[in-house]
Amino acid sequence: MCGIIGYTGNRKSVPILLEGLKTLEYRGYDSAGISVTDDQSVTTVKAKGRLSVLENKLNASEELTATCGIGHTRWATHGEPSDINSHPHSAEHLTLVHNGIIENYAEIGEMLRGVGYTFVSETDTERAAKLLDMFYAKSHDPLEAIFSACRVIRGSYAFGIMFNDRPEVIYSIRKDSPLIVAHESGNGSFIASDIPAILKYTRSYYRLEEGVVAQISKDGVVFYNSEMEPVSQTLEEVDWDVEQAQKGGYPHFMLKEIHEEPEALRKTLEPRIKDGLPHFGIEQLDGEFLAHFTGIHIVACGTAYHAGLIGKAIIEKLARVPVNVEIASEFRYRDPILRPNDLVILLSQSGETADTLAALRHAKAQGIYTLAIVNVIGSSVAREADSVLYTWAGPEIAVASTKAYSVQCSLLYLLALRMTLANRTLEEETVRRICDSMLTKIPSVIAETLKLNDQIYGYAKQIVNAEHVFYIGRDMDWALCTEGSLKLKEISYIHSEAYAAGELKHGTISLITDGIPVIALTTVSKVCEKTVSGIREVKSRGALVIAFAARELAEKYEIPHDELLIIPEIDELLMPFPAVTVLQLLAYHVSALKGLDVDKPRNLAKSVTVE
Ligand code: M6R
Repeated sequence: MCGIIGYTGNRKSVPILLEGLKTLEYRGYDSAGISVTDDQSVTTVKAKGRLSVLENKLNASEELTATCGIGHTRWATHGEPSDINSHPHSAEHLTLVHNGIIENYAEIGEMLRGVGYTFVSETDTERAAKLLDMFYAKSHDPLEAIFSACRVIRGSYAFGIMFNDRPEVIYSIRKDSPLIVAHESGNGSFIASDIPAILKYTRSYYRLEEGVVAQISKDGVVFYNSEMEPVSQTLEEVDWDVEQAQKGGYPHFMLKEIHEEPEALRKTLEPRIKDGLPHFGIEQLDGEFLAHFTGIHIVACGTAYHAGLIGKAIIEKLARVPVNVEIASEFRYRDPILRPNDLVILLSQSGETADTLAALRHAKAQGIYTLAIVNVIGSSVAREADSVLYTWAGPEIAVASTKAYSVQCSLLYLLALRMTLANRTLEEETVRRICDSMLTKIPSVIAETLKLNDQIYGYAKQIVNAEHVFYIGRDMDWALCTEGSLKLKEISYIHSEAYAAGELKHGTISLITDGIPVIALTTVSKVCEKTVSGIREVKSRGALVIAFAARELAEKYEIPHDELLIIPEIDELLMPFPAVTVLQLLAYHVSALKGLDVDKPRNLAKSVTVE
């Protein structure tokens, strides 16, 4: 989603804004712009397309030396990507950038037209700029104008605002969209949508609380509550470095992040396994309280939703507690039946996904206990849930989520194991054995899997020109296929679908013709024979079958195939970890072979902060 950067200080603002916007590119965008201000005037340069287009435009014009400015990458919601619809947007007294969606923008537009305002763009943001302008024209007080405008606006927002008559000050406020504030002494102050944008300058930052205005100047930062009184915000420290947010020699972030899986899993699991047993250090998840949950809802979007499918399989298998996995955008409106003893788990890498956040609020409003499994520390989902388990995957920059999926699955496994202790559905010794395997074997088996890269690259070459690819499997394999299929379609633009192998003959098999690639996954012994029948059905209709199988199963059953890859061995229960790495590498290579923008696929954003 949109990216915001703002800087005011002692240095020229344009290079700082451009660099900041580059670090936010991963959020997804289709146009970009900056406004800089000095005592005299505001200059705005905007361009549809990549940041390089904006950069060229800036290079072609007179050098801008102003030391205060705001920048924005826009992911179009209201109005097509165009120069005019790009941010910043200006009104008579101010210029601003915005991330989010103003739901009542049409109503606001009507009201403003009634008092003489006109609009040049189709955006909700321009309506917000002019609404703010209307209030500012009355009071000439930034705080009063901002709070008044926010009382009218419905929807989500993070704003960076410069008032013409306060040339070296930037104001900011947010609701349901992320924004951080930082100050580096001797340099200046910043606002940004995410930490990488400020990391070059400082490791300390404030995560702006909702409804609080930040006023930043070159000398420091002041925060105000809605009573317009100064308030304090918590200063936080970044515990990872710039290097971690860079490619580190890999051609793409996605490949780097797949290679980070062993380490991410180690970091996520180690602190949660004590004396050989799962331990979360959260009373509700470690004590008897856990046993009182009689039903679980896992709510998430995209890849996180697919991790939820793995969670369902493992929790139901081990702890025998019924689990409902739901897409967050459905959950929030469907009015699902939530019972007092239910637990709602929100899964999210970013912790800022609008639908997941809304689902969390929906559950909380009904008094249901909520647990967030989130990667980004201090994100909205993490802060609003009753308790939070952080995954320690480090920053995930590629739009296609990879290591975040693996760590989410790992925590769902641990939760399932902790529940088995509370519910007494497994012997303690068995739980100990599984925990030990998770800690000692998962990172190394993924490292082994990464060595199969060349083989997987070979399969990618075989499917790179396909128009359709099908993924089949049963049980956990089917859940993994859903993720493999999403990975492929989102970054390679090949149409792909995942099917429970037994479901093929109920319709989809009519699409199988000569040469159609079918990726078949067989790691679950209980259903392997059944999956093999499904594979036989597609093979006999001409499909190009690329099978990924557990060694033992490939030896026991004759798996029909054109290509067969043996997944490195680990206890069957833990097979999803190496198996998903194979699927991720396959999707990665197809996209790279096609010469596509692997890390920033078209139309997609890393953090979907609008509905
Ligand atoms: O930040 P979240 O985990 O809440 O994001 C959820 C989805 O938007 C995300 O997983 C998306 O599907 C990715 N592009 C998948 O690779």
